[in-house]
Amino acid sequence: MWSVPLFPVRASTMAARVDALYFFLVALSVFFSLLIAGLIVYYAVRFRRRSPSEVGQKVHGGMLLEITWTAIPLAIVMVIFVWGSSVYFAMASPPAETLNIYVVGKQWMWKFQHLDGQREINELHVPVGRDVKLITTSEDVIHDLFVPAFRIKADVIPGRYVSIWFHATTPGRYHLFCAEYCGTRHSGMIGEVIVMEPSEYQAWLSGGAPEGSLASAGEKLFADLACNTCHRPDSQGRGPVLNGLFGKTVTTQAGETVTVDEAYVRESILNPSAKIAAGYQPIMPTFQGLVTEEQLLQLVEYVKSLATEPEVPTARPVPSGPAPGETTPVAPTPARQ
Ligand code: CUA
Repeated sequence: MWSVPLFPVRASTMAARVDALYFFLVALSVFFSLLIAGLIVYYAVRFRRRSPSEVGQKVHGGMLLEITWTAIPLAIVMVIFVWGSSVYFAMASPPAETLNIYVVGKQWMWKFQHLDGQREINELHVPVGRDVKLITTSEDVIHDLFVPAFRIKADVIPGRYVSIWFHATTPGRYHLFCAEYCGTRHSGMIGEVIVMEPSEYQAWLSGGAPEGSLASAGEKLFADLACNTCHRPDSQGRGPVLNGLFGKTVTTQAGETVTVDEAYVRESILNPSAKIAAGYQPIMPTFQGLVTEEQLLQLVEYVKSLATEPEVPTARPVPSGPAPGETTPVAPTPARQ
């Protein structure tokens, strides 16, 4: 519909909605700017002083006028508010089923990590017609991921996972920018999003990934870091069982309820004593400085992949005697969530 030179193309489902609101705001601003400027000029001429002895008339307030110029702007800003928040909430809430891709910003490059294991730098391949969620974080300072053609833009913040999503509608190559000054080579922190037909995308996906999936890399790292000595799949470890844990809520020692999401897993690796699950000791060492942001993503994906794994029954032999359901007279095992 619109074709304004120098205006970015529209290549996502959100683009037309953002543009409609944007053009509405521009039109509104133009209308009122012209109206006010026009009236100033007109009144300046119309009510100019005509003789040196002329004295201005006293002006009294007009209730009707006051109400009118309060009510009309109020109605206009409420339209902007409701419209703006509906677009904002649509952008801020990703659909339930998305293709997830991790993004790590770093001075001065963009690293993309697909769940199947493909890694890319300053290039992002995505399929057309799918809801894609980018889970972003930064290794150093605040960056900002901006794809004008998709009308998406989000601050990429160290220590946090910020998600944005899009649904690309047209295959093609689109600019990707860092939109937050992040140091000397900020202007060079650019790249391309390559939107492909689903079949091409599948072919592209199967072309690489010698390292295996993100979750399997996480599993290996989990063993290399000896996490599995305490986080065992049965209840005999000194740390919480991770099977079936992701997405659930747990109670902490402080009595808080937290949802086990990406941010909680990340925090529990870097700052284990921040939110200890009730019933456990603060014995886990920090892994701050020992794992990179990308390795954290692998571990997070591994914990996520365990969400569907059932807890393994305890291997320890059950003392004979009491029937199932009765209290067993053995040393108490740690209380668990
Ligand atoms: Cu990264 Cu600017």
